[in-house]
Amino acid sequence: MELYLDSANLEHIRHANSLGIINGVTTNPSLLAKEDPKVDVKKRILEIFKMVGGHLSVEVISTDTKGMLKEAEEILKWFPDATIKIPMIPSGLSAVKFLYKNSIPTNVTLVFSANQAIIAQNAGASYVSVFMGRLDDISTDSNNVIQDISEIWDRHNYESLIIAASLRNPLHLTQAAMAGAHIATVPYNVLMQSMYHPLTDAGVKKFLEDNAKLQEEINKLKAPIFNTITKDNTKNQETKAENKEQKIDISSQKVNEQIVEEKAKEIVENTETQKIKDENENKKNNQTKNTQKTNKKSSSTTKQNKTTSK
Ligand code: G3P
Repeated sequence: MELYLDSANLEHIRHANSLGIINGVTTNPSLLAKEDPKVDVKKRILEIFKMVGGHLSVEVISTDTKGMLKEAEEILKWFPDATIKIPMIPSGLSAVKFLYKNSIPTNVTLVFSANQAIIAQNAGASYVSVFMGRLDDISTDSNNVIQDISEIWDRHNYESLIIAASLRNPLHLTQAAMAGAHIATVPYNVLMQSMYHPLTDAGVKKFLEDNAKLQEEINKLKAPIFNTITKDNTKNQETKAENKEQKIDISSQKVNEQIVEEKAKEIVENTETQKIKDENENKKNNQTKNTQKTNKKSSSTTKQNKTTSK
């Protein structure tokens, strides 16, 4: 059984929709007026449609067929997905038939008996809304009525969908589902009541209390283990830090060794260069000395020769 929200209250619709439990919204002039007697109906309806997107029943207020169809035409201009809600009166049935022939979905409302439901189905209603609460108000068991309608539907394979409407309490919701209604359109307060159960709340409270106790025990058990782990961690970190320092030492040592090696190489190279320079210098000096000696020798020979010739 699908759930619709029977409301024109935006906050309620937004909340129910956010829970992901409703497939549509049904409205009527009373629900719209309840929110604000001066409400802009078109604006409100479009806000609801934008919010929910699924089924949205909008009710006409005319009581003659022509007036109903004119209103239906206007609503369909607002949004073409509208389901036109029409009261279960003879002029309404003609309007339903016309809209059925034009493939416009209708929701026949204010149905209180199996016979009314059968007639609405024959007019071509897409939905038939059976008012449970108002039946109970006049001491007619709504559960029996909805059960009868559901049984007839099964026997005849009727196509209209049965909407259980005018739900006043969670029991109506259960009865509608058991009887075989296809949809229940639920007021917000009944939806909220239906969602809660005192034992669920008590159960959640107990789970939370037990979980808090369990956490406390776990923390107590964890404390010594945690201290050991913390100590181990500190130790590990210290060891890591030491290793890191050592690594830095080792690497800086390597760098120093490299520098020394390079310096030594430079010194050796300089020394060798100097040696070669010195050797060359020596060679040069020796050559000069030898040349001077030779020159001296030859000049003395020349002098001697000169003296002899004199
Ligand atoms: O969907 C019909 C519903 O709005 C009527 O409810 O409580 O006025 O009978 P109620």
